[in-house]
Amino acid sequence: MRIVKVSQLLDDRERNYLLYNGDVIIFEKIPAILELNGYLDRLVQDVFGGLSKCSMLNECSSKQDSSVFGVNIERLQNRFRKEPAFADLFRSALKQTGMDIERNYADVLFLRCVAPLLKKNIHRGRIAHHRDTWGSNIQQQVNWWSSLYPTSDENTLVFYPEYWDTPVENSTSEWSYSDFCKARSLAKQKGLSHINYPYAPEVTQSVLSNKSLSIVTSPGDLVCFSSAHLHGSTEAPRGSCRFSIELRTFAERSTDLNIPPKNIDNANGEPRYDWFKRLSDKKKY
Ligand SMILES: [Fe+2]
Repeated sequence: MRIVKVSQLLDDRERNYLLYNGDVIIFEKIPAILELNGYLDRLVQDVFGGLSKCSMLNECSSKQDSSVFGVNIERLQNRFRKEPAFADLFRSALKQTGMDIERNYADVLFLRCVAPLLKKNIHRGRIAHHRDTWGSNIQQQVNWWSSLYPTSDENTLVFYPEYWDTPVENSTSEWSYSDFCKARSLAKQKGLSHINYPYAPEVTQSVLSNKSLSIVTSPGDLVCFSSAHLHGSTEAPRGSCRFSIELRTFAERSTDLNIPPKNIDNANGEPRYDWFKRLSDKKKY
């Protein structure tokens, strides 16, 4: 696995050639991501009530702090979801990397907040190691990820390259999307602070953390990787809360004949194409 920093356009075929070989691409200083960050930073400042950036983003010192922080994160995610400018700008960012948006399909743009001491909550913070292909069962799928603020080794996206072509024990045979949806509805109804069901299938064995690779990024960077990569968040996030946005896409076969990575350990089978819409016109796949 190489980390390939790119400042020029890559078309779908060129991009996926690298991704399907296990490389991680960082598209640097994408103008639409920088513009999106401006809006998102204002939204974060607004929701968190004008607290200084340092105190707002640092570790919560008490349980009460954690619960206030959790409420604010939920408000932030709701406002993020309802503002179409974020998805529009992210789509522009994908175009600015060289993607053909007429021939690519995407799921829903998501804002993840990983706060120290808020390791498990309803707002999809830090989750255990996983491959995104375990949830969707689409081997050609790729992930796009960008952090609002600079990341450090203390709280960022982490890869486990040892497992690119090595199977790991996981919960794909037991996990079900419909059971997750039921658990999520129940948590909302009961006002619970966390969902009593994993957000996605997870690793069920210990992994070689000493061989992990943390991705440190600057604002404007857009990270792209195969959804078949085993990845997760920093295991014990410290320091500051991380606000990152993410999306999954796949290209039509007519635009890209690269061979996607093989399924080596996913017991699920049914591809969830119904989660994806064409980027250009939101038409279902
Ligand atoms: Fe993921």
